[in-house]
Formats: sequence, C-alpha cells, structure tokens
Amino acid sequence: MTSSATDSSTVDRWWRTAVVYQVYIRSFADGNGDGTGDIAGLRSRLPFLRDLGVDAIWINPWYRSPLADGGYDVADYRDIDPQYGTLDQAEALITEAHEHGIKVIGDLVPNHTSDQHVWFAEAVAAPIGDPSRERYHIRPGTGPDGAEPPTDWRSVFGGPAWTRLDDGEWYLHLFAPEQPDLNWDHPEVRSEFCDVLRFWMERDLDGFRVDVAHGLVKDPTFPDANEAQRLLAGSEGRENHPFWDRDGIHPIVREWRAVLDEYPGGRMLVAEAWVPRPERLALYLRPDEYHQSFNFNLLEAAWEAGDYRRIIAETLEVQGGVGAAPTWVMSNHDVVRHPTRLGLPNGTDWRAWLLDGDRSILDAEAGLARARAATMLTLALPGGTYLYQGEELGLPEVHDLPTDVLDDPVWERSDHQAKGRDGCRVPLPWTTDGPSFGFGDAEPWLPMPDSFGPLSVDAQRGDSDSTLTLYTEALRVRREHLVTDEALTWLDLGDDVLAFERGSGVRCVVNFGTEPIALDGEVLLASGPLTADGGLPTDTTVWLG
Ligand code: NOJ
Repeated sequence: MTSSATDSSTVDRWWRTAVVYQVYIRSFADGNGDGTGDIAGLRSRLPFLRDLGVDAIWINPWYRSPLADGGYDVADYRDIDPQYGTLDQAEALITEAHEHGIKVIGDLVPNHTSDQHVWFAEAVAAPIGDPSRERYHIRPGTGPDGAEPPTDWRSVFGGPAWTRLDDGEWYLHLFAPEQPDLNWDHPEVRSEFCDVLRFWMERDLDGFRVDVAHGLVKDPTFPDANEAQRLLAGSEGRENHPFWDRDGIHPIVREWRAVLDEYPGGRMLVAEAWVPRPERLALYLRPDEYHQSFNFNLLEAAWEAGDYRRIIAETLEVQGGVGAAPTWVMSNHDVVRHPTRLGLPNGTDWRAWLLDGDRSILDAEAGLARARAATMLTLALPGGTYLYQGEELGLPEVHDLPTDVLDDPVWERSDHQAKGRDGCRVPLPWTTDGPSFGFGDAEPWLPMPDSFGPLSVDAQRGDSDSTLTLYTEALRVRREHLVTDEALTWLDLGDDVLAFERGSGVRCVVNFGTEPIALDGEVLLASGPLTADGGLPTDTTVWLG
C-alpha cells in the first residue's frame, strides 16, 4: 500500500465526510438542445453545485453506450457517448469542477458490458469453444438439444438470466440481455479493468462508484438458485448464493485498490453492494478494499425512530469496526424518490405501489416534511452523505408517467410487473416556465410535469422556506459544525424521538412522534417551522448549538 491509502490527512481522506451529489447526466441539464442532458449542460451548471456547497459529484455512466439500460451497458469504457459529449469535454469538466473545489467520481460498470462491446461481438461471431467466448459466461444449455437454460437463475429485470445464441449456446446476463455478464475468472477481464481505472485516474477522476459490486463472481459449478423472481432486488443475504456476494469478489477489489493507490490525492472507490447483512458488507470495507460502500438500509427503513436508530447504531458499530466511514443515502436513480416514499404509510411496498397502488394513500405534504427531516438527520451523522440530483428541490417521484414513454428496460422485461425507475429520472427543472423548465431547448427525453415549474431552481432560489435554501443552509452549517470527529452520543428524549450529540457539541433532534416536543439551546437550523412556542413539531429535525 502506498502512502495515499494509509495517509491520515483529511485532504487525502476527503471522502470520509464528503457530501457527494449524484448527477444522472441524462437528466441534469441539456447543453446542446437534443433533449438529453450532457457534459456541456453539466459544465454550465457547476456554479450552481458550488453554491449548493457539495464536496463532490458522482456522474452516472457517460461512456459510449446504446443506452439499453441508461448507460449501464457500456460499449467502450474509454470513450464518452456522443449524446453526452466528447472525451475532451469530459477532461475539461473534471478540470473546471476541481477549480470550483468539487471532486469528480465516475461510475465503473464491471459486472457486464454492452452486447455492442467489441469483446461480445467477437465472442458471438466466434465458433463454439473459441477462447474469445471465455471472457463471458457462454455455456451449453440443458435438456433435450440444450434447449433449456444452463441454470434457473432469474434476471434482476425479470425473466431468465440466460439468452440463447443462434448457435445454440446460452449467455448469462443478470440484468438485460443487452448486458452480458463478464467472466471475472478470466485474466484479460482482470487486467482490462485495471487499465480502465488507470485511464481515468490519469484524467484526474477522484474515484469511482462501482456498479453491482456484489455480483461479479459466479459459482463456477453453476448450480440452480432455487429462488423466486425478485425484481430489482439484490441478495437476500443468503449464504453461498450462486451469484451474489461471493468471497471471490474480494481479491478483485484488492487489485483495483492497489491501482488507485498508485495515484496521489486521495482517489476513492465506493461500492454499490446490496448486501443486507452488515457483517458481510463490512468485508468490502477492509483497509485494502473499498473506501466506502453505499448503505441502503435507511432508504428501506420505515419512518419511525426505532428503525432509524437501530440501523444507524448497527452501521456505526459494524463499519467503525473495520475503520470505515459510513455513508448515508436516501435517494438515487434506482428507487422511488424519498419525499414520495416517506409520504406512503409505513409498511407500503413502494415498488409495488408505483405500479398500481392506490394513489390516495400518498400524503405528499407529510412526505416532503419527512424527507427534509431525514436529509437533515443524515447530514448530521458521522460519515459521508450521497444526495441525488433534484432532492435539493424536494422533487417527488413522477409516479404517473404514461407507460408509452417508459424507457427503463424493467417495464418490458418484467412483463409490466414493475413500472421501473423512470419516475425518479425525469429531467431537472431550472426555470419556472419554458417548454422544459430550463432543462434545455428541445423536448426532454422524458416528459416533465407542470408541477415541476414551481419546484424549479429559479422558483426556490432566494425563498427562505424552500427546500433548496434548506439544503444550502444545511451544507453550510454542516461544514461549520458537523464535520468533526466520528463520535456520536445518543440522547434519550423518548421513544418517538431520535436525538444525538456530535463531538462539536451540536445536537440533532428528530421528532417522529405526533406531539411537538420542547427544545433547549440555540437553533442552528430546522427542517421546517417550529411551533409558536419554539417546540419541535412532528416530522421535523432541528440542529441545536
Ligand atoms: C445498478 C445501477 O444503479 C442500475 O441503474 C443498473 O440498472 C444496474 N446496476 C445494472 O447495471
């Protein structure tokens, strides 16, 4: 390990307390007027991100791609998709972001390539048994004439995880058929991704979010999984699962970590690992593996103090045990936005609700209040926080997108059993009017509802009660008072209240109950109005000095 991995300076370990803003580039800002967000649009909005006060941005895949799964189907890992711009523009973006004091994290997609990747084209064109096929999982079928897939594995997007080639063999795709899974036992696959990492480190990227970090390695004996279809869901935490969270993943991560450690300046890797058992997740965070992992447990939690407290305590204990700094995530491009999720009664399966649930059970006002409270809670915790574009505007899920505009492969692949993730990917509104609310000059790739105008950046800027102002203030106060040592002391203010004090002496209090609670101390910031006599109302968070 070189000095950057062991260096304890906060400069090199910036990610331990960073607020990282996720840019879903397709929907952030359209600079060239084709209806799709791009690098030019992102560059023009960097001052907005600087003023918001984020430490870093994570950009979803921007590589050359047929966009069968929003860019998570990469045809060339060393080039930018023409829809998004050019490699020169990407390099300029990284430089400009750095000038604004913003780090830039890319998105590495190692579990699968696009079916348009040169390796897959070569494999498919080659005869059965050709070595070029070994970079993927291409196998004979079972049953008479091999007409049945090699195993019973199901794709995360629905249907079998195997598709048959014209010559009769089958290839594995844990996601869409356009995303063939790579064989990580193959030395060329291993060395290729180390080279890809170097390519981007040399272009000054500050790190990578790693897609499907828990899926790379498959059981080489290819046993049946014997499990039901679990749409859009990862590992249930079952031991020795044939394709999730296998021990063979860790040596691969160590290779990547060694590559990153060749570069100065605190380059980092954050794992997208849907691994529910905290002690298994902690293995990814050992000192020579990932720097961080997303922690999706709060995102799945019911809105109640006990659940939140249990998850936070467990995360701090287990991740602290391996010396990792935790992360907190409430929204991303794969889940129902948190103002909507938290507006549903506890226990609602929000994925199912999105498809055909009763819309009248949604309390949008309470959802937004809870979302603001939840975000302030996560920003007060030790560790880093990931924000998803648009949450600083309080954007809700667009749950009524007509089915004929849906782009997520999940909709078709699941036989319309899951509506997919388009409702959280609708382009951002920048201005109160105009055909796409300032997103760009052309019809946006997904329709934007009229309700987005009053939620736009222009509408919220300068409004002291707006969600944009809350986020901006929260990041400012956090920098001043909450980027501190990693201590947290729980305070007991009753069962329905979550309260703790940080090393700086700042207290965070969240009222999950139905009655206001009395406060003492100076109010630094509150997620909503206090009561007339200074009490903390339901669904509200306050930071006290
Ligand atoms: C996780 C990504 O976040 C998601 O958007 C994508 O569909 C899958 N991985 C497959 O790459």
